[in-house]
Amino acid sequence: MSQPQKIPATLIPGDGIGPEITEATLAVLDALGASFEWDHQVAGAGGVAACGDPLPQACVDSIRKTKLALKGPLETPVGGGYRSSNVRLREEFKLYANLRPAKTIIPGGRFDDIDLVMVRENNEGLYMGYEHFIPIDGDPHAVGMSTGINTRQGCRRICRFAFDFAVKQGRKKVTVVHKANIMKALTGIFLETAREIYAAEYKDKFVLDEIIVDACAMKLVMNPWQFDVLVTTNLFGDILSDLIAGLVGGLGMAPGANIGEDAAIFEAVHGSAPDIAGKGIANPIALMLAAAMMLDHVHMNDKAKRLREAIDATLNIDNVRTGDLGGKATTKEFTAALIKRLAAS
Ligand code: NAI
Repeated sequence: MSQPQKIPATLIPGDGIGPEITEATLAVLDALGASFEWDHQVAGAGGVAACGDPLPQACVDSIRKTKLALKGPLETPVGGGYRSSNVRLREEFKLYANLRPAKTIIPGGRFDDIDLVMVRENNEGLYMGYEHFIPIDGDPHAVGMSTGINTRQGCRRICRFAFDFAVKQGRKKVTVVHKANIMKALTGIFLETAREIYAAEYKDKFVLDEIIVDACAMKLVMNPWQFDVLVTTNLFGDILSDLIAGLVGGLGMAPGANIGEDAAIFEAVHGSAPDIAGKGIANPIALMLAAAMMLDHVHMNDKAKRLREAIDATLNIDNVRTGDLGGKATTKEFTAALIKRLAAS
């Protein structure tokens, strides 16, 4: 029988726990028989160490060619230092939509039966990096300033993405999260555009709701089941997606996809977790679920389904869990148990 053609894809293991969870994810993709031809690249602190650049040209060129990447977390210095390689990648490839689902896999936690999707605008808002300090009286940082920008075109693009996603997935409600009472221009344009597009094109397809971001944070904790799909601007989406990860067991369970005109990059929501890096105890599930989203993206839906089901069975039937989920398994032990499950499926 002829081998299926391999799909070219860029692989960035990333920093901190990145290489550990990437190794685990590759082993699982192998066990699934998912055939990717990986082009290994570095970025973030790894890029600085290898060639003095947090986003080496070779990495950008690779993604430009493959249009598809699986990426581990990349370290970004806090305060000063280089600009986030994640943000630069999102800009470089116009990855305007950040899709972050949160679904309960382990029952009996603080919240059961969560099934939410955050659609975060990924290219505009307060992430544009238009920032500077004003020195006064010898203090170089006497005033800090940041300018956020949302464009009509950018708002239309992300609202259409979220609305189309809701229709395709048979979702019942989309909630626009904003702060248009205070930031009347920056997030007002977002809300206004969502209302306009909904009224013109999606009115009969689902319910559109709107909520101010602070109330949304409170309601997500009090009664998350009232939400379905949420769509919001860059910074609010970043914060609330960590919040919804917390509803389903934490960052170790939260995958993400950055989707745009020129490429798609799949990653975990979490960062490089320097506090546990190298200890072999990181939970690899978030990156594995991101790999499942990648399998769906390249139409290997059957393999994505098998992977999600095997993760569920390993956690809930075999009871193999890493420390963040209250278990004792190492990354390698969890991965071995998952591969055993896959072999049986
Ligand atoms: P973090 O997400 O790395 O860690 C927050 C907490 O969650 C830590 O206690 C960590 O041990 C735990 N955690 C995260 N992932 C885990 C996993 N898979 N298994 C078990 N525990 C896990 O956030 P932090 O510490 O704020 O950021 C560390 C670095 O990561 C920073 O340089 C930051 O800029 C970067 N970062 C990168 C992201 C990306 O590449 N997409 C996203 C978020 C942060």
